[in-house]
Amino acid sequence: MDQSWWKESVVYQIYPRSFKDSNGDGVGDLQGIVEKLDYLKELGVDIIWLSPVYKSPNDDNGYDVSDYQDIMDEFGTMADWEHLIQEMHDREMKLMMDLVVNHSSDEHHWFLEAKKSKDNPYRNYYIWRKGKDGKEPTNWESFFSGSAWEYDETTDEYFLHLFSKKQPDLNWENAKLRKEVYDMMNWWIDKGVDGFRMDVINLISKAGYQDARNMEGKKYASGAEYFFNGPKIHEYLQEMNKEVLSRGVVTVGETPGVDVEQAKLYTGSDRNELNMVFQFEHMDLDSGPGGKWDLRPLKLKDLRDNFTKWQKGLEGEGWNSLYLNNHDQPRMVSRFGNDGKYRVESAKMLATFLHTLQGTPYIYQGEEIGMTNVKFASIEEYKDIETLNMYKEKVNENNEDEAKVMESIYVKGRDNARTPVQWNASEHAGFTTGTPWIAVNPNYKEVNVEQAVADPDSIFHYYKKLIKLRKENEVIVYGAYDVLLDDHEQIYAYTRTLKKEKLLVILNFTDHRPEFKLPEDMICRDVEVLISNYEQPEEPDVTSIKLRPYEAVVYKYR
Ligand code: NOJ
Repeated sequence: MDQSWWKESVVYQIYPRSFKDSNGDGVGDLQGIVEKLDYLKELGVDIIWLSPVYKSPNDDNGYDVSDYQDIMDEFGTMADWEHLIQEMHDREMKLMMDLVVNHSSDEHHWFLEAKKSKDNPYRNYYIWRKGKDGKEPTNWESFFSGSAWEYDETTDEYFLHLFSKKQPDLNWENAKLRKEVYDMMNWWIDKGVDGFRMDVINLISKAGYQDARNMEGKKYASGAEYFFNGPKIHEYLQEMNKEVLSRGVVTVGETPGVDVEQAKLYTGSDRNELNMVFQFEHMDLDSGPGGKWDLRPLKLKDLRDNFTKWQKGLEGEGWNSLYLNNHDQPRMVSRFGNDGKYRVESAKMLATFLHTLQGTPYIYQGEEIGMTNVKFASIEEYKDIETLNMYKEKVNENNEDEAKVMESIYVKGRDNARTPVQWNASEHAGFTTGTPWIAVNPNYKEVNVEQAVADPDSIFHYYKKLIKLRKENEVIVYGAYDVLLDDHEQIYAYTRTLKKEKLLVILNFTDHRPEFKLPEDMICRDVEVLISNYEQPEEPDVTSIKLRPYEAVVYKYR
């Protein structure tokens, strides 16, 4: 397998609005990040993925960019950004910027021009269509509820917006637009950025513009088949690679709806496209046919089968990103672990899982101290456009049961991940001296960075150890993955093998005490414990182990 520095790296994601406020306005900012770089260095991260910091009217917290070459006022100035990257590079950390070019803000000057008239030179930077029988051009639904088309009176046409109506989709068919994007990316590389995380990059090639099927009596339907992995997607990415990425930056494409075969096309080393993808299959295992808000319990077998499919599928043929949460997903300890009695044990178990698989691990801010989901009493306290639009549609327009909708927000809402990072036990968790833009999780007195750094048994120190192990054991990065006990309802176990090295990873995903039995065909040699979230005997015997709640243990064969 090809070796690369980014395969051996650990990435930490910062959602700047909620990370650290340095000036008391209640919103995190660039200077706040600089203040915490030593903390991140101590943790051991190599790369920081910074969610968007560009100028934006904040309809979707920066994922609606109105100027790709300037900084959002609330976050600071370009000089602050230059200071940040300098401070990062001084500490040998790399910066991966978010690149949001499936759409811009409707306040971007391209769009302000485009909507002036049909013959405006920027018109073709966006996607315009005539209405059909007095209605939208197609029945496609926006990811943020309602139609994906918005009517523009001035020119009597609709523009496409797969996300909010303040996020019009860019027209990648237009070579001029593509060149603008590449020039902008090169400009950032000239300023020193080391990589890009590309927002919904597999949606940029659209085709067909027909009504979607499967209406199920609904007004709008997912038009995914017309824009997920569209016909020119690989052509565009190869062009981008030639014009920009081949300069040697690290890339990860956010690619919802991508399967293993497609992921090979995006990340194969001979393809000249991207380094790795964020795929979503494991994020959908606890959803029913109604989509993300349709809650279903997760079965360990589904999770294991899915990870196994990806681990085996990409081996030697592509590269995956390893994540269980980010700014769009609930907190992983609440979703996959136990955020009550076994919060610490289960957070460590899940970390052991992510950091002993093949792929590049991503840590989302606060994950390293086991931050949890939040339950705000009323919808008024929520800020996320996806959540608010969904609530409005279901509760106000369709009269669905409020309590049920709130329950789905508690379990799946994006604001779970967006409450401020809990730095200490002082007011507002030390995030700000002002009023935070979104309320702090009330558990900040017990769950905070200061506590975690001071406690050698904390989740934080466990992450530090995992990151270090990855640097010291090539088998963790490059070893082949093989699953054991593929039917077990509580235990997830696998081996990693590289030449003569072998690891055995055993994870109890429950608060029960199941017994692990080593399959008979596996030769059990002398082992040492590399890491565990519980005390382990000095002379371990792996033939049979009674596991404790959420126990995780990694053995290395001697
Ligand atoms: C994916 C981003 O991660 C999410 O936060 C955003 O709302 C959409 N793309 C639209 O940019």
